[in-house]
Amino acid sequence: MDEQGHMTGKKVIVGVTGGIAAYKAAELVRLLVKSGVNTHVAMTEHATKFVAPLTFEALSGNRVVWDMWSHETSPMDHIHWGQESDLVVIAPATANFVAKMANGTGDDFLSTMVLAASAKILVCPAMNTRMYMNAAVQRNLRQLKDLGMVVMEPSAGELACRTEGPGRLPEPEEIMNRISMLLSAQDLTDLKIVITAGPTREPIDPVRYLTNRSSGKMGFALAGAAAMRGAKVILVSGPTSLCPPPGVTFAPVNTTEEMRREVLDRSIDCDVVIKAAAVLDYRPKNPSERKIKKENRSFSIELEPTPDILAELGSGNPGGHRILVGFAAETNDLLANAKTKLKKKNLDMIVANDVSRTDAGFDTETNLVKILYRGGAIEDLPLMSKRQLADCLLDRIKKIWESAK
Ligand code: PMT
Repeated sequence: MDEQGHMTGKKVIVGVTGGIAAYKAAELVRLLVKSGVNTHVAMTEHATKFVAPLTFEALSGNRVVWDMWSHETSPMDHIHWGQESDLVVIAPATANFVAKMANGTGDDFLSTMVLAASAKILVCPAMNTRMYMNAAVQRNLRQLKDLGMVVMEPSAGELACRTEGPGRLPEPEEIMNRISMLLSAQDLTDLKIVITAGPTREPIDPVRYLTNRSSGKMGFALAGAAAMRGAKVILVSGPTSLCPPPGVTFAPVNTTEEMRREVLDRSIDCDVVIKAAAVLDYRPKNPSERKIKKENRSFSIELEPTPDILAELGSGNPGGHRILVGFAAETNDLLANAKTKLKKKNLDMIVANDVSRTDAGFDTETNLVKILYRGGAIEDLPLMSKRQLADCLLDRIKKIWESAK
């Protein structure tokens, strides 16, 4: 899963209720803690029959509350917890607990805490399929949505009761993605953004091709961060081994021409294009239809230039109605080369990375960049993860967008 830097320091309460999926809540707590979230767990008494509170205590590093009357609980904890946290996640939420929340019942620590909470509440129902489909449960879930809670659809598959259908608790990583989205500022909801990533691939013959070392990490980090912040994101990517981030429309391509067509089509009504892809500048002029046979002599492949997608977008962008952002991967003369590309392609900004470094550019987890703006300003950013850089770049793009309104 992507690094979730924006979650560091947030406070999340995980409410565990009495179903077999309670064991998955342990992994959820582990992932939250790993993301830097201050995680507290409250359990119903029934949940303690499935997983011991000690498990959650060890994972969260915090005291677990399940007995309202315990002397270890301060008398006002059920009021304070939900007011001092950023999010309450009920996972798993049993049919019984869903009914209690829908009806405003407060008869234990967790249900009273939910009643008094001012934080957002994410409910993750998990139960047998027939219970889940029951009209009363469905009505209760609708009621929770009407009350402003976020209800996550259960996933379908084999259940602990040996039946198949909807009712499974989504995997902890999926719940984490939803939590991450709920904890993110939704400040890009007005924007439709086309982002490119990865390399392009140009065939030499049916089994060989030209390509480059782009892993797609920078473009995918941008797409994930933009989607988390509420933007409508279309990710056009050359071949990589990465999974598209949640909430993103994914358009996989191979060649530069395929990327060109997708980007031009998809950017017609978009607000921002960010081209993090490493597009091949040349392709074999006449790729062979048959596999080229090995012979004991040298041979040459004639290359022709590929279309410059960003320059084409820039040439049709005279009014600046669309924000165009390029990347420049350079081994030398970083600023001079990036400046030339910024001007030639008519961009609003270009992100220059020095790919001769081992901690920046191609297939690294981090990046070190300078941002060059249309007006001539240059900004130096420190070394940071690609995900952190993605958020920094989106902050800059948002500013340009707002000042152009
Ligand atoms: O994918 P990673 O492993 O995470 O690596 C990230 C990266 C190094 C690939 C990325 O950060 C980066 O620098 N991408 C651009 C690399 C590049 O090819 O730059 P360029 O100088 O050739 O092109 C300048 C800009 O024009 C780029 O935005 C490029 O997408 C675009 N371009 C280039 C050629 C072409 N035919 N069409 C284009 O649109």
